[in-house]
Amino acid sequence: NAPTRVGLIGFGCVGQGLYDILQRHPEAGFTVARIAVKNPTKLRPLPAERFEFHADDLLNDPTLDLLVEVIDDADEAFRLVSQALRQGRRVVTANKAMVARHLPELIALQRAFGGVLLYEAAVCGSIPVIRTIDSYFAQEPLVQVSGIFNGSSNYVLTRMREDHSDYAEALAEAQAQGFAETDPTLDMAAFDPRSKAVILAAHACGLLLDPDDVLNLGIENVSAADIRYAAERGQKLKVVASLQPLPGGGATVYVTPQLVDADSPLYAVEREFNGVVVEAEFAGQHFWRGRGAGGHPTGSAVLADLVALRHGFRYAYAKLPLEAPQAAEAPDLELE
Ligand code: HSE
Repeated sequence: NAPTRVGLIGFGCVGQGLYDILQRHPEAGFTVARIAVKNPTKLRPLPAERFEFHADDLLNDPTLDLLVEVIDDADEAFRLVSQALRQGRRVVTANKAMVARHLPELIALQRAFGGVLLYEAAVCGSIPVIRTIDSYFAQEPLVQVSGIFNGSSNYVLTRMREDHSDYAEALAEAQAQGFAETDPTLDMAAFDPRSKAVILAAHACGLLLDPDDVLNLGIENVSAADIRYAAERGQKLKVVASLQPLPGGGATVYVTPQLVDADSPLYAVEREFNGVVVEAEFAGQHFWRGRGAGGHPTGSAVLADLVALRHGFRYAYAKLPLEAPQAAEAPDLELE
């Protein structure tokens, strides 16, 4: 069998992570056939002739089976992904800000043109939370989903508590380790975990939220005294995203610093790790801890999406009411 041909748009941390994974494991059956980047002449670990400038050329190349969009610029990412979906293409993205802001259009485009978009890498990196909620819990009501969705702020809080580092010093370390966003305000003021909460709300609660309507408070004003206060009570201060579906529809969704008790699974999620707690009506509580950032963990999630696309998978969005018009047309409803 010929390998599946992938067009890669972006060759930053995630693009390089994915490329390395696919190089190391040719048995996975994917080849990166073309790579588009903003600056093709920049010095990179691959020969310059591997890179090209016009991402649109990849969209128009029918020999590419699957497209991966992993650029930083959310507006350009949306332009490319929406164009690809309009062409009925199958696409993987890791861009959480873009997906969170444009999910209604992205779903409508898939339904209208038959393309498919997967974005497991956009939420908590290597933790397979979107697909599990979307597929496994498609028809089971969820009691709540909560978690630590941002590694950089969790890293800063951990360093402040364990090593009494000050905020600025701990933030510089998180940036040096490559977890932080290009604009660290996105991490520290909890815009990044808010995007992830908005994406999960669609799959877990059937809600398409405007990110600006979701409360996000970060750690910019957290002091050493706050951290000591939590420790004295046997608790830890963590930035927790919380999604609670409400009976009869709707949900409460917010991201704020919270005092986490020692008996919560999130208590032990330290440094750059992410943690997700899913509580379902019949399954009970599930907990994942894993790497939410970095080239290889995020590349792992992109690989999982590529494999899923090859198998014909698409998100069910089973909890979204958008299919409701079809149900209303069903003849048995007229008996009521
Ligand atoms: N800046 C993000 C974090 C990267 O710190 O978790 C992954 O989305």
